Amino acid sequence: SCPGSLIVVSNRQPYRHEYDDAGPPTETDGGARSSATAQTRSITVDEPTGGLTAGLDPVVKRTDGTWIAWGDGEADFDVTDDRNCVAVPPGEEDYTLRRLDLSEEAVDSYYYGFSNRVLWPLCHGFPDLIEDRSNDFEWYRTVNERFADAVADHATADAVIWLQDYHLALAPRMIRESVPAGTTVAHFWHIPWPSPPTFRQCPAGGRVLEGLLGNDLLGFHVEQYADRFLECVDRFLPTATVDHERRTVRYDGGRTRVVATPMGVDAAAYDRDARSVDPDRLADLLAEYDIAPDTTLGLGLDRLDYTKGIPERLAAIERFFERNPGWRGEFTFLQKATPSRTDIETYQRHGDLVRSEVQRINRRFETADWRPIAYTEDYLSTDDICTLYRRADAMVVSPLVDGMNLVAQEYVAASVDGDDTLVLSDRTGAHERLGSHALTIDPIDTDGFAAQLEAALSMPAHERRRRMNTLRQRVFTGDLESWMATQFDWFRRLRDERGRTD
Ligand code: G6P
Repeated sequence: SCPGSLIVVSNRQPYRHEYDDAGPPTETDGGARSSATAQTRSITVDEPTGGLTAGLDPVVKRTDGTWIAWGDGEADFDVTDDRNCVAVPPGEEDYTLRRLDLSEEAVDSYYYGFSNRVLWPLCHGFPDLIEDRSNDFEWYRTVNERFADAVADHATADAVIWLQDYHLALAPRMIRESVPAGTTVAHFWHIPWPSPPTFRQCPAGGRVLEGLLGNDLLGFHVEQYADRFLECVDRFLPTATVDHERRTVRYDGGRTRVVATPMGVDAAAYDRDARSVDPDRLADLLAEYDIAPDTTLGLGLDRLDYTKGIPERLAAIERFFERNPGWRGEFTFLQKATPSRTDIETYQRHGDLVRSEVQRINRRFETADWRPIAYTEDYLSTDDICTLYRRADAMVVSPLVDGMNLVAQEYVAASVDGDDTLVLSDRTGAHERLGSHALTIDPIDTDGFAAQLEAALSMPAHERRRRMNTLRQRVFTGDLESWMATQFDWFRRLRDERGRTD
């Protein structure tokens, strides 16, 4: 269990309240709904699917903690109390969600700006995509301060404050300065950390490092990211003392321990959901996407993001059909893509590219009753996703770079029949755990990628079973529960060490 009361802090919230169907005010409403109408509009709750918020939700449920996040839902502040808090999940009320009300301008600069126009491309090794707009960093600092202030409202001396990801790099130092001594401040960085030559291009890079060194503990998914972080501190923060062997930094009177602890998924939950899929729902889903019920099915499931390697995947599928005409009509690839960060032009252009490539490839190979690629941007519930995971014969996870990739692990956990294959990019954190028994690809090597698709589809059943068996063992052993236990152990250990030196 967590050694203290847990406060999770992240940009993205685990539950979002929206108005049902009515939508924004229309002309016929006279441009604005009356408050009476607004109050009678019914409110729905979006639950997270996939990603880190979905991953952490079961953990916070068990600890009765507090979660602080940006309230981005239209109806979010109609359900909160005067401290902007609401008990979640609706009906169960296991923990407190404290929401931050951020102005449009703040969101544009902090979220669409410094977080996703600077840190995201930088950390994923796309420095050419960095857009350093004036005021973005200043807003990033202001919003980090808002998060730190909210934490201070809830923190007690025994609190464990656990920040998530790249939106909050400055907050740890601010928090450190405002909470009672003895409070544990920890951070998990879910995306890659770049090499020093790339990090050098980070505007206000020194501030980012200083901010993160306000933590007692800083976690990454893989050793390489932890080491690169230490190299960056060594290189760009001359007054810090780095002990590479013990992965510790001393800076400004504090000490930060840097660890590599790969995150897992709630494997038992995916296994359970996959075992109880409804065959009628599966039939409906396939019909909805015009997929023949008996086809061999490939599956891709990603946010529509340039790091995910979707165009490269489509190119490999095209090459596969060129080389293996016998599979035409027999194999369908379902790509579910979730539009993301669409205020940013790079994302809009990327979405356009993906959609036009799908169309082009479909026109090239389609017949009267078959298309090679079924493509959807629809919202899918966790149940639907599990239904597709279980049905898919091969899952393709091909990012150009990815801190971890939880989808690959979810798929394995949901492959309860044990005879499916995972095609996995060697540029993901997940590859360290699963690479040896997945079919490894380099996402930009189109020929090699197409050959691995072919290998996945033609692999004998006993070989598929043997590989999946090992994959499942790894995903179950390194599941969310064990990851959390590792985090809690670290929190405890650092607290004990501090107790001895205080
Ligand atoms: C990645 C990031 C998360 C983020 C998620 C979804 O997994 O590491 O911090 O929440 O993408 O992106 P979004 O911008 O929609 O929150």
